[in-house]
Amino acid sequence: MAEAYGATKSLKLGGRGSSSLGPKAPMDSHAVQKAYHRWAGMYDYGFGVISGAARQGAVAAVNRTAGENVLEVGVGTGLALPLYTADKRVTGIDLSAPMLELARERVADTGLRNIEALLEMDAQATSFADGQFDIAVAMFVASVVPNPRSLVAELRRVVRPGGKILFVNHFAVERGPVWWVERALAPLSSVLGWHPDFRIGHMFAETDLTAATVKAMSPFGLFRLVEMQN
Ligand SMILES: C[S@@+](CC[C@H](N)C(=O)[O-])C[C@H]1O[C@@H](n2cnc3c(N)ncnc32)[C@H](O)[C@@H]1O
Repeated sequence: MAEAYGATKSLKLGGRGSSSLGPKAPMDSHAVQKAYHRWAGMYDYGFGVISGAARQGAVAAVNRTAGENVLEVGVGTGLALPLYTADKRVTGIDLSAPMLELARERVADTGLRNIEALLEMDAQATSFADGQFDIAVAMFVASVVPNPRSLVAELRRVVRPGGKILFVNHFAVERGPVWWVERALAPLSSVLGWHPDFRIGHMFAETDLTAATVKAMSPFGLFRLVEMQN
């Protein structure tokens, strides 16, 4: 069940042992491209599987949302593309050419007709017009981009007022064994291709979250779906 952000006590904005301004080992665009060049061929069989239920849940939320023009940022190998209903016209962007190549192959192989374009582009600074999309969705991307707050700002710009912005991501917890694992893995961001110590406060100001709902997603609530009205 979705809850207003304030109800999610385990996801504090700041946090001990880490600045609320960013993860310990932020990646630049070059590091992201290098990481996903390495992971592209294996992606669907590793993280692609673990994240499957949360991806399905996020796309189902997009499909329930009014409006047909959808922007998917960090579209990766296009695992979500076959999940959109036919009435959604989807534009996908990604920073990684090898990931996009696999997405294009998927579209060709599955004969999808509702994919408008798959473009190599930085989600933090796109070439789209203000308010061009009804909906934007970023699945497992916010903890990868060098500056997650500029990702949020850019999606707010390209989605029309009243449109919807959705994020699904793992957010670091504040305590317990998982907290220790996340802290231990944090320096390996460039190899992993994501930030294990990524906190919800790294991407949202408290005011952003007042109009958002946050829902725990499978498996084991590992991921959260954040839905916000623009
Ligand atoms: C963990 S993968 C998620 C892929 C896909 N969303 C999914 O559900 O499987 C993260 C993706 O974000 C892309 N990415 C990272 N930073 C980006 C940026 N600044 N702009 C666009 N894409 C980016 C990576 O290249 C990678 O394909």
